[in-house]
Amino acid sequence: MSEIAQFRHDCDALEITWADGSACRLPALWLRDHCRGPECRDPVSGQRLVNITDIPADVAIGRAEFDGAGLIVEFAPDGHRSQFDPDWIFRNAPPASAPPGDRSAAGKTLWRGGDFAGALPRAGYAQFAAGGTALRDALAAVRDYGFVLLDDVPRRPGQVLDVIGRFGYVRETNYGTLFEVRTRVDANNLAYTNRGLGCHLDNPYRDPVPGVQLLHCLESTTEGGESILQDGFLAAQLLRDENDAHFRLLADTWIDFRFVDADADLRARAPLIEIDDRGDIVKIRYNNRSIDTLRLPPVRLAEFYPAYRHFAEILERESLQLEFRLEPGQLLLFDNTRVLHARRAYSAAGARHLQGAYSDLDGLYSTLYRLEAGG
Ligand SMILES: [Fe+2]
Repeated sequence: MSEIAQFRHDCDALEITWADGSACRLPALWLRDHCRGPECRDPVSGQRLVNITDIPADVAIGRAEFDGAGLIVEFAPDGHRSQFDPDWIFRNAPPASAPPGDRSAAGKTLWRGGDFAGALPRAGYAQFAAGGTALRDALAAVRDYGFVLLDDVPRRPGQVLDVIGRFGYVRETNYGTLFEVRTRVDANNLAYTNRGLGCHLDNPYRDPVPGVQLLHCLESTTEGGESILQDGFLAAQLLRDENDAHFRLLADTWIDFRFVDADADLRARAPLIEIDDRGDIVKIRYNNRSIDTLRLPPVRLAEFYPAYRHFAEILERESLQLEFRLEPGQLLLFDNTRVLHARRAYSAAGARHLQGAYSDLDGLYSTLYRLEAGG
């Protein structure tokens, strides 16, 4: 695959044609910046030792030769020599256009509730906890679908923290390392009452938002209280398809989110829909309880409200929603930057007790990448 058929260079760039017929163009500055030699990269950590300002701005390719094992490049004006592994170049050469990130909607499988036909992405906890392919597949489901359901999780208070320890780190907040979801007198958050909760993402008032949420059901004997999940990336994509101006407005308008109680005053400013440099959807923040006073000029408000209403209407479409009952011993692990969750109201009679906790996406992805690399 990575056999070099031909190469040629001028001062500005090196062009390689591979044995499979594909080609790449490597600009001189890019090559020099990616020199893998011991003067430029720490041999142990692989981290870069040179700053961009250490490289001559007018760096050019002086000579280039292929000696069978590697590609040797001598740079002008300073005579610096670098050796490149053809395999490395084949895998890392600058692409014709930026590829989608695996955190963005372009790299994921978007879904409606009916798509799963009762077969949710799920794993038994014993297998998940043992690591290996079951853990890899469960974390891959979080990447691809935004959630996974774990079965037979021991109904032990605090267990949710052990579950996080299998793939990442606990994100402690003002709610503690974990939070209790059950009816509470003088609740500081509607989540701690028996009211229904509309579709939302948690904690948009934090910076950064906790990227991973877990909800572990310890007890559930009430009427109602069913869980609902929905794909916020699909909802945002539908908004874009139905009215691009509405989508743009929500991506371009930064609003204030806030949570206040006796001990905390948490604030963050961000858009409802976040896009990356390719225009791909990368993050949703949607929680009607947590949007602070909208400090937008009247003209902007007049544009914002119809767009916000349109997005909310899409999120209320039942066809998008996945509804099921979270049973005792089950745990939902989901991407809190993508998958919205909701809960039906439940009866005052009976008991319902969930423990929730947060973690971050970077730790989850780190474990997934290592498992996928066979580590
Ligand atoms: Fe929530």
